[in-house]
Amino acid sequence: MIDLRSDTFTLPSKEMIETILTAELGDDVWEEDPTVKELEALAAKELGKEAGLLVSSGTQGNLVANMTHLNRGEGVVLEKESHINMYEVGGLSQVVGAFPFLIEGNNGLMNPQDVESIFTRGYNVHWVDTKLLCLENTHNRGGGRIIPKENIDRLSKIAHDNNASVHLDGARIFNAAVATGMEASKIVENVDSVQFCLSKGLGCPIGSVIVGSEEFIHESRRNRKVVGGGLRQAGIIAAPGIYALNNMIDRLSEDHKHAKMLEKALSEFEDLKIKNVDTNIVIVDTSASKLSTADVRDRLENKGIKVTHMGDQLFRMVTYFGITLEDIQHVVSVIPEVFS
Ligand SMILES: Cc1ncc(COP(=O)(O)O)c(C=O)c1O
Repeated sequence: MIDLRSDTFTLPSKEMIETILTAELGDDVWEEDPTVKELEALAAKELGKEAGLLVSSGTQGNLVANMTHLNRGEGVVLEKESHINMYEVGGLSQVVGAFPFLIEGNNGLMNPQDVESIFTRGYNVHWVDTKLLCLENTHNRGGGRIIPKENIDRLSKIAHDNNASVHLDGARIFNAAVATGMEASKIVENVDSVQFCLSKGLGCPIGSVIVGSEEFIHESRRNRKVVGGGLRQAGIIAAPGIYALNNMIDRLSEDHKHAKMLEKALSEFEDLKIKNVDTNIVIVDTSASKLSTADVRDRLENKGIKVTHMGDQLFRMVTYFGITLEDIQHVVSVIPEVFS
């Protein structure tokens, strides 16, 4: 099977697994695991923030960050199709106790005026205090879209001018960095906290890191404990993370090239609408064709290819470490049979 459902299906390389065997370990709840400390420091440096914190998953990282930024009953502005809104079980409401203001974006891109209109409402006895803006880069449902730095900076300024913080769900921030040639630390320089995933394109089996100020991370460490994310000899997770930050970032450009090859093959069919392919995600809308996502999925599965159902007429293909050029060439060769 050529599994294009998600970059979360990446398997760790032998070299990555070997780092676990020699990792120096300790109890990380006691802050005594040197390998975790090393990863957190390296992650903070890569993202240009003061400190980092290893968490179990992207969902946990976003949740913990949002717990730290918000008090119960406060408002948060986020994009309607963001991962935090759509795929994190409503943790923002059910755990953080925050009230979400959803902005309709254009493939994930929010219009600054829409965001400003929420933050500048002023005081009214009927309204919540809006204290946080959440961004996502790259934007998953936007088709791995890179949110331009100017947009991130403009939206962050709106939030900061109105006494609110900014959290970036940067699950795939290094895809954005590699594709734009801009340092990840530069992209996120004006946001307060970032969550990035080790277990997607970077190829680790487990883990995410959140970064921010020393004070933010200090408080997040307690919030991580609340949600059961305080781990003991977590160096076995951190060691692959260190390996990934040192060895797996630059190669993301290969995944981007593969995604472009898929885009090119699919764009031969006029009735398929493909979202802009900026990085490693290809999202295809079949509504102008006679094919439903179920049809596409069945036809592709018969040819040994798996894709994700994103809607009745929306499917997704994701490229990642382990999906080879030969795999992509095979997919490209069967596309005409599937969509003709
Ligand atoms: C943009 C984005 N944020 C957060 C997550 C959550 O990561 P995890 O699956 O590790 O909880 C994902 C996972 O696909 C994602 O795509």
